[in-house]
Amino acid sequence: MNNDEKYMRMCFALAKRGKGLVEPNPLVGCVVLDKYGNVVSKGYHKKYGGNHAERNTLLKLKNNEAEGGTLYVNLEPCSHFGKTPPCVDLIIERKPARVVVGMKDVNPLVDGISKLKAAGIKVDFVLTKEAEYLNRVFIKNMTQKLPYVVLKTAVTMDGKIAASTGNSKWITSDEAREEVYRMRKEFDCIMTSSNTVIADNPKMEHRFKCILDKDLRTQESSQIYRQGEIYIASKKNTPLKDGQLDLRVVLRDLYKKGICSVFVECGGTLAGALLKEGLIDEIYQFIAPKILNDNNGLSCFNGDNVSKISDCKQLEIQEFKKIGADILIKACLKNYKNKL
Ligand SMILES: NC(=O)c1ccc[n+]([C@@H]2O[C@H](COP(=O)([O-])OP(=O)(O)OC[C@H]3O[C@@H](n4cnc5c(N)ncnc54)[C@H](OP(=O)(O)O)[C@@H]3O)[C@@H](O)[C@H]2O)c1
Repeated sequence: MNNDEKYMRMCFALAKRGKGLVEPNPLVGCVVLDKYGNVVSKGYHKKYGGNHAERNTLLKLKNNEAEGGTLYVNLEPCSHFGKTPPCVDLIIERKPARVVVGMKDVNPLVDGISKLKAAGIKVDFVLTKEAEYLNRVFIKNMTQKLPYVVLKTAVTMDGKIAASTGNSKWITSDEAREEVYRMRKEFDCIMTSSNTVIADNPKMEHRFKCILDKDLRTQESSQIYRQGEIYIASKKNTPLKDGQLDLRVVLRDLYKKGICSVFVECGGTLAGALLKEGLIDEIYQFIAPKILNDNNGLSCFNGDNVSKISDCKQLEIQEFKKIGADILIKACLKNYKNKL
């Protein structure tokens, strides 16, 4: 790992401290080195409406240690007046010789790179893909005005989410299920379906839940209704597409309610429909070391009849780790990057 990568990873770690506090703003961290290569200041964007990472970091310096040094930041510095003045002006004033950036800002109002270059500051990019992954929710929100959608599945090694009877408890280990409880907190909303509520009667504890239930088939006594704010998408408030709820409209409506990210927990029918519509950005797939070996077991995705492997949806693995006895794979579809 070279120094640019090392300090950019430091920015990522700092940026993550703002998780849950800065949204819908991006996660941003900043590190400043003096002209001798010593770290003289670190900072991050701490809360929505507060100073940006670069301002927090530069304002900590008493003397002008940044002059002739290097400033690292994972997102292009802003050049416009928003809730705070442009960071790029403060950077130019502090005269670093070089600014290293993770990714360009997708906000069309931002053009910090050109301003830095025009002021004679060298600009380099490093770890761009990682920087984009860190701010994938922000990118999706900004470019498509839709929430970032993660589908969670728990499957056997033969890709089954339940036996033919509908029984699905439990495919994965206690540790994996605890990881799911932790993951849910990172999202603004959990989405599930009428079928899953009826089959599993899950609690799915969360501050905001969306249930897709076209004909209002779920019982009010179901455990899911006992806690949290609930939005039921039904034919009363959502248009239909091919006889089913129009999923893009549901997501657009959620975004209008301030929901930036959605964690979907459902069976293969809804998962297949979301995938077909190109509405899934990422899949968190838990794979248990079990084989059901049942032709009628329920599949993770019930989509169309597809005859060629070349028609597969292509994903890119971002992360994988062992959790208890199981494996978790996080893999992105390309949707949110297409618009960059
Ligand atoms: N292992 C796991 O990770 C996991 C997770 C969850 C569930 N499960 C299992 O999955 C099984 C249920 O799977 P499932 O395939 O029957 O149900 P599902 O995929 O959870 O939900 C399908 C339902 O979603 C609703 N829906 C809304 N908009 C839709 C659209 N545009 N296209 C398609 N459906 C839409 C429809 O109900 P309406 O017509 O009522 O709107 C549809 O019947 C259960 O046995 C459960 O245990 C497993």
